[in-house]
Amino acid sequence: MKPFYITTPIYYINAAPHIGHAYTTIAADILARTLRLQGRQVHFLTGTDEHGLKIEKAAAEAKLSPKEYADGIASQFRDLWKALDIQPDDFIRTTEPRHEETVRSAFAALLKSGDIYKGRYRGFYCVSDETFWTEKETLPGPGGAKLCPNPDCKRPLERVEEESYFFKLSRYGDRLLSHYDAHPEFLSPSSRASEMKNFVKAGLQDISVSRAKVKWGVPVPGDESHTVYVWFDALLNYLAAADSKDASLWPADVHIVGKEIYRFHSVVWPAMLMALGRKLPGKVFAHGWWTVEGEKMSKSKGNFVDPLAVTKDFGVDAFRFFLFREMPFGQDGDFSIASLKRRYNADLANDLGNLLNRASDMAIRYLDGAIPESLGERDFIEREKMAQLSSAISNAIEGLDFSSALATIWSEIGRLNRLVNERAPWEVAKTDREKAGEIVADILWGLRVIGSWIEPFMPAAAAKLRSRIGSPRMPMLAKLGDQRRPQDALPQSPGRVSKGEPLFPRKA
Ligand code: ME8
Ligand code: MG
Repeated sequence: MKPFYITTPIYYINAAPHIGHAYTTIAADILARTLRLQGRQVHFLTGTDEHGLKIEKAAAEAKLSPKEYADGIASQFRDLWKALDIQPDDFIRTTEPRHEETVRSAFAALLKSGDIYKGRYRGFYCVSDETFWTEKETLPGPGGAKLCPNPDCKRPLERVEEESYFFKLSRYGDRLLSHYDAHPEFLSPSSRASEMKNFVKAGLQDISVSRAKVKWGVPVPGDESHTVYVWFDALLNYLAAADSKDASLWPADVHIVGKEIYRFHSVVWPAMLMALGRKLPGKVFAHGWWTVEGEKMSKSKGNFVDPLAVTKDFGVDAFRFFLFREMPFGQDGDFSIASLKRRYNADLANDLGNLLNRASDMAIRYLDGAIPESLGERDFIEREKMAQLSSAISNAIEGLDFSSALATIWSEIGRLNRLVNERAPWEVAKTDREKAGEIVADILWGLRVIGSWIEPFMPAAAAKLRSRIGSPRMPMLAKLGDQRRPQDALPQSPGRVSKGEPLFPRKA
């Protein structure tokens, strides 16, 4: 079977990675881990976008050659993903030969087919967004300057008038619209669909796909006085990476991107693929944006949040958890240390941490720290109902609805905590020690399921939890739904329950 192919944007390397980049890449990792736990083949791609004027300028400021500069920042991205327990299957850089060759051959093929032609471009260019704008689209600025109309940018634009190659985007409007209609999943979440459809319906213009003055890029085949426009270059990474690995990988199953680059991915990219005669990706999903302490992150404010600084204080697991518990994927939200701390203490230290502590303390007291070979006939926690929730959770994750998956998990954690209070094994033990042990064994079973549910989000915490309750790794999250008989879900070789450090020590 074709591996499930997941991508993130390839990030610009003009600055160090921040929580925005981490957000998308962790999302892709959670999806990838969930599918792998079900025994499915997955291919998860991320990488760096290294050509173009923005990088050329950043390298000049750093007094390095573009390539030296790129090598340095690309390895920061790679190292960060490792530090955040993100496990991509491939990391592509647009300066690699496999990528540049794909760009050259795609450009040449479209020149040949007439989808790319030579003309003259007159308009404006935003270096920060690497985006062309027509005069009509720009915002007026001081002294007659034209500003970038992207509400998150508004920087002064460069006036551009030069010979340029154009891609006949205008040719693809009708085909794009019929693709959107035939594949409702393509534009995701559905709340984004009407904006894109209206944009296409309003009529597409051909787009400039080369720059005469930019040196740092892939030379246009047959015309070395131009380089390929960085977005035409960058989008092809998804295809270049796939084709370089395994002919069966393409098309991508899901491209996960931020909302600000949705148009490039849901209009320009599928049109390029149509022109190239390649299949279209299954889904293009746009997520929302984080502000930080109520403000937009920006160079001028110097308020980029370094993920490593956050994880130093709260740990990698809590960081991964917070990003997806706090705001629904697809919506915007605000990142603040106060809300991270609140969630850490309430959801992790209290709800999950206490459940584990209570269960393991009681297991040591009433079961002598040993997990019984079989659970009793009595079912104190509605095991079957819980097993069935596994499918709901993995379906939510497959639909990229991470926050509702976490909401379900935390409502079960809450239910188990309440059950411990109601069943009060410490009271039961006064008259019936065996029954107290059965209740505790049942709670341990539930905790083991919880451990498998949190694994894609918090892989290290899940491993610690398993070792505390002497449970092996649960291989297939969705398959849990089949484990109706509690004995099926018991570890083959139950280990011992141990007292240990709290999973999430409270933060003052
Ligand atoms: O656009 N909140 O790269 P980029 C949430 N190279 N996500 C954020 C974010 C925030 N505040 N800031 C950044 C580019 N992101 C191009 C992409 S793809 C062929 C080329 C995430 O470095 C989000 O995924 O500006 C966004 O789309 C991406 O970083 C932009 O990264
Ligand atoms: Mg950007």
